[in-house]
Amino acid sequence: ENSGTDPKNLRVKLVLLGDSGVGKSCIVLRFVRGQFDPTSKVTVGASFLSQTLALEDSTTVKFEIWDTAGQERYAALAPLYYRGAGAAIVVYDITSPESFNKAQYWVKELQKHGSPDMIMALVGNKADLHDNRSVSSQDAQEYAERNTMFFIETSAKTADNINQLFEEIAKRLP
Ligand code: GTP
Ligand code: MG
Repeated sequence: ENSGTDPKNLRVKLVLLGDSGVGKSCIVLRFVRGQFDPTSKVTVGASFLSQTLALEDSTTVKFEIWDTAGQERYAALAPLYYRGAGAAIVVYDITSPESFNKAQYWVKELQKHGSPDMIMALVGNKADLHDNRSVSSQDAQEYAERNTMFFIETSAKTADNINQLFEEIAKRLP
């Protein structure tokens, strides 16, 4: 047992879930490559990327990221990706109430079938489109609290809160 200050090397399987078009792949691309693709194509099946994040205390966290396809036809594949995951990011688009409903569906599915100690984040993406907002931050925050998730709004386009999202997950790892 050390003093608790030694750097550690952690690893976590992370899954992104949410409606098609909410920006899951763009969030991952922003985090992993620092880029934004305005012509991002729909994901087919799922895609895998990994990225290591260094925290202030020199702990490193290797994220093994499964970016799932949000189109309905792929919904049955989701358990393949969230099974055994230590963390899940459930994404909606702040301009789309339908996508917020879909996020709640995924939260319920994770609560039913995911591991009970999974770290869950609720992410309102496309925060740059605030002029077209139709999901209030307060409603989403309250929903997240009721479901023991943490809540953050991001923009893959401007990079706002993207690193913070992954840092918050890293901080919560066992
Ligand atoms: P599926 O793979 O079908 O599940 O969709 P997805 O959730 O991966 O969506 P994707 O990341 O491909 O993004 C869909 C569209 O939204 C693309 O045109 C992106 O350029 C756009 N987009 C993604 N993130 C943002 C954002 O933060 N702001 C804005 N303005 N557009 C975004
Ligand atoms: Mg995608």
